[in-house]
Amino acid sequence: MQIYQKNSYQQFIAKSFVDSRTFHVFLYFCTRYNYSSMAAIQVKDKLFELFIPEDKILGEVQRVADQISNDMRNENPLFICVLNGAFMFASDLIKRLDFPCEVTFIRLKSYLGTSSGGQVKEIHGLIEPVTGRNVVIIEDIIDTGHTINQLIHTISKDNPASLKVATLLFKPEALKIEISPDYVAMNIPPDFIVGYGLDYDGHGRNLRDIYRIKG
Ligand code: IMP
Ligand code: MG
Repeated sequence: MQIYQKNSYQQFIAKSFVDSRTFHVFLYFCTRYNYSSMAAIQVKDKLFELFIPEDKILGEVQRVADQISNDMRNENPLFICVLNGAFMFASDLIKRLDFPCEVTFIRLKSYLGTSSGGQVKEIHGLIEPVTGRNVVIIEDIIDTGHTINQLIHTISKDNPASLKVATLLFKPEALKIEISPDYVAMNIPPDFIVGYGLDYDGHGRNLRDIYRIKG
């Protein structure tokens, strides 16, 4: 297995490892000392491989920001960031918009471990009035679609003027409900991923790149 590291000494050591236990220990220390831009990484008990590097992510975020700017510049939209996973995407997206806007946050949770439970729990509700507003929900990922479906349903009850969805990632093959998000930064296969705000059991959110589970 090849490891990308800025430090060539670490690169040399990585190449010389043959047994996997040593490799896991090595990954653990890499992860502690340089938590970005490695071809493979360990998060808790699982191995992940580099999937989408930061520059690719930011390029797609810029593209979505340009689309939203063109569509909504004169609409005075209210952006609702779905915590926890969308915090990094929302931050990068909003600062790339070319017009002033309002941002608020809602916190939901539907995942335990690496599979979707299908049950959505609302933890912190929305305080800002959405009635008559042009609302854009900012999500990290649409997997089965249950979470965004429930959120659309809940927000629609308060009669916004319009309701759109911007998601960083979309897994069309995992979808169990018919959902077509208005803005998608990247379509991905139905694999479990971590990084750039997304977690595995609370870990890995601060990775700059997106990693895919191995095996
Ligand atoms: P859904 O309700 O199945 O669409 O799942 C949506 C939520 O599950 C997302 O907002 C994420 O927080 C979480 N989720 C879905 N897929 C992944 C993944 O691959 N990694 C980490 N979290 C995920
Ligand atoms: Mg989410």
